[in-house]
Amino acid sequence: MQILPTHHHHNHHISSIPLHSPLRLSTTKPPRNVAVSAQFPTINNNNNDYSVSDSDLESRGFNLRSSASDLNIDHLNSVFVAVGFPRRDPNKIRIALENTDSLVWIEYQKTKKPVAFARATGDGVFNAIIWDVVVDPSFQGIGLGKAVVERLVTELLRKGITNIALYSEPRVLGFYRPLGFVSDPDGIRGMVYSTKPRKRK
Ligand SMILES: CC(C)(COP(=O)(O)OP(=O)(O)OC[C@H]1O[C@@H](n2cnc3c(N)ncnc32)[C@H](O)[C@@H]1OP(=O)(O)O)[C@@H](O)C(=O)NCCC(=O)NCCS
Repeated sequence: MQILPTHHHHNHHISSIPLHSPLRLSTTKPPRNVAVSAQFPTINNNNNDYSVSDSDLESRGFNLRSSASDLNIDHLNSVFVAVGFPRRDPNKIRIALENTDSLVWIEYQKTKKPVAFARATGDGVFNAIIWDVVVDPSFQGIGLGKAVVERLVTELLRKGITNIALYSEPRVLGFYRPLGFVSDPDGIRGMVYSTKPRKRK
């Protein structure tokens, strides 16, 4: 089902970012998560630069939202579960959203439920990390994921935040690359603290 047009018009600032380094994923044993980051130039985006405009989304039955106040956390949790994330304590999700700097979500007008979501935490000036990028499986592949990430990145850039990172599962790297994200730029390698028992060496 193709609701939204395919998009050949990418954001100028994003499409002009060269890939600084090739992906260095191990071919034998891919890591579960790969740190991906982007150094975006500061830009002034406007609605015309998005792959799909707010008004086009609205005419297709979707409302853009950037506040958590009218977001039903149980419905959001259901979307997380539908894409394979573990179901999380709604109270913890509420706290996480309170401590979130920027978020973008899309409401399906017919059901009033969230169908796409992305959020970013950070220090508000230098760094941000994008989390919980999800699109309801029934609404995937029609441009909603791209729509929320584009707007989230634009919002962060507007705040002057140019160091934007995220963790991507290997199968989703191809979604983030055209949006301006590169794997391990400048040889920087992501490290994640492991809560598993450590091996002594
Ligand atoms: C990954 C996800 C957010 C993408 O959202 P989506 O709405 O389905 O994607 P879109 O329709 O906006 O796709 C935008 C572009 O990315 C491409 N794309 C989408 N998913 C892709 C993937 N897994 N790999 C490569 N390209 C992908 C699309 O073909 C489209 O290309 P186009 O702009 O040339 O037409 C969504 O499928 C999802 O929620 N998946 C499960 C949860 C998940 O893995 N989240 C990421 C956690 S790190």
